[in-house]
Amino acid sequence: MLSQQDAHLSARASSCCTECAAGAPDFGSAELFSNGQPHAVLARFREAAAVHRLASAAVGDEFWGVFRAEEAKVVLGDDDVFLSGQGVFPWNGPANPDPLRGSILIATDGEHRGVVRSAMKELFTKRRVETRTTALTEALERLVRPRIGTASFDFNAEIAWPLALASMADLLGLDEPQMAEIGDQVAGILGDTGSEAFTGTDRESARQALAKAAGLFSDLMVEHRNAGLNNLIGHLHRAERAGGISRKDVLSNLIGVVVGGTVAPRLAFTGLAVLLAREPSWLSRLAAAPELVSGFVDEALRWTAPTTTIGRTAGRDAELGGRLIRRGDTVRVVLGAVLRDPRCYRDPDVFDPLRREGTSMAFGFGPHHCLGAVVAKSQLTALLEFFVENRLRVVLSGQPTTTTSNTFTGYRTVPVRLLQDGPSPASR
Ligand code: HEM
Repeated sequence: MLSQQDAHLSARASSCCTECAAGAPDFGSAELFSNGQPHAVLARFREAAAVHRLASAAVGDEFWGVFRAEEAKVVLGDDDVFLSGQGVFPWNGPANPDPLRGSILIATDGEHRGVVRSAMKELFTKRRVETRTTALTEALERLVRPRIGTASFDFNAEIAWPLALASMADLLGLDEPQMAEIGDQVAGILGDTGSEAFTGTDRESARQALAKAAGLFSDLMVEHRNAGLNNLIGHLHRAERAGGISRKDVLSNLIGVVVGGTVAPRLAFTGLAVLLAREPSWLSRLAAAPELVSGFVDEALRWTAPTTTIGRTAGRDAELGGRLIRRGDTVRVVLGAVLRDPRCYRDPDVFDPLRREGTSMAFGFGPHHCLGAVVAKSQLTALLEFFVENRLRVVLSGQPTTTTSNTFTGYRTVPVRLLQDGPSPASR
């Protein structure tokens, strides 16, 4: 039976449009995304209207859902009107703001956002990322090579997650055990009800995991007293000493980078593996035309779309897609819908590494565009090139399972075998 609040939410939202009147699913629920992006539902809502008034019993809130690319660019591009300061995750809103708001980049607006971003951005440039590929190559050799031709294994547990952690360890300047300890807190930080369910429902566990991660990073800051170190911890240490940011800013942003920089890449890696397994001809096509790799990676990100929604809070009244958004309203960009908007992408349901529409919004858009986009693209490129150069075929040896999450969506386990079609270049 619906509670009084749920009934009130459904009643208000049902007045939005015919799709909503017919019964909108709960866009804040983990179940909706538990088989990946629900493309058929997203397409129906996108075609009915650019912006819908939606109710979510799962997050106990009403919000504006943005389903088309043009309106998404307005929301994500205008941080004078659409603010991040309450938090951007599905469960954030005036009643439940991000505990690290005003400190962690993703939930900080205004001048301070610029100061925090400047303290970190140098480590995320293309030039800088290109100088750090050794750790990535070593990790691929260590994690993938021994798996070639062996029995079935879980691509997520054995390759995707350790690869994400190894790359993060290099960025932070941590060794493997230190990184593993921090990695253990990642699932809990977003409020988990199981290692994969980022739903925001278990807030006490989330608080504990946050405190534990902050404590671990605090200890590491002491170990990394040498502020000259050329990694993210050293960088933030120097920025703190220079006076622009506080210790809370340092710890919050280390946590932010670790969470964003491991969970989403992991889902992109598993998404890539499934893509290659389902369409094995891509590997020979890429081997014949390596210049397609970059477009393939962009398209794989559009296709897999690991992020469900990106939230904002209206700082003042605004018109959006013909709807009046009131100051204080929550607005969420529904990324899976936006990344398949036919107004932006020709034949959006076709996987096309040659498409010319420009960078997709898989990394967001505007002032909060993903800080780690270059890092993530270099990881995916390295993984794909490893497969292509070593003529590796990904064969599914069972059904992949998916995450149950309203925050990040994708594959949870991917049972595979890696088979080699002919000798790798090194052994010829
Ligand atoms: C496939 C991989 C990734 C995807 C799909 C992804 C997606 C995104 C998206 C959609 C946003 C925008 C959030 C918003 O507008 O509120 C974002 C922001 C961010 N991402 Fe990523 N991300 C990925 C990898 C990474 C990596 C590898 C790192 C770090 C090493 C990282 C660090 C961040 C940070 C710090 C922000 C906040 C930027 C800001 O608020 O200014 N991400 N990411």
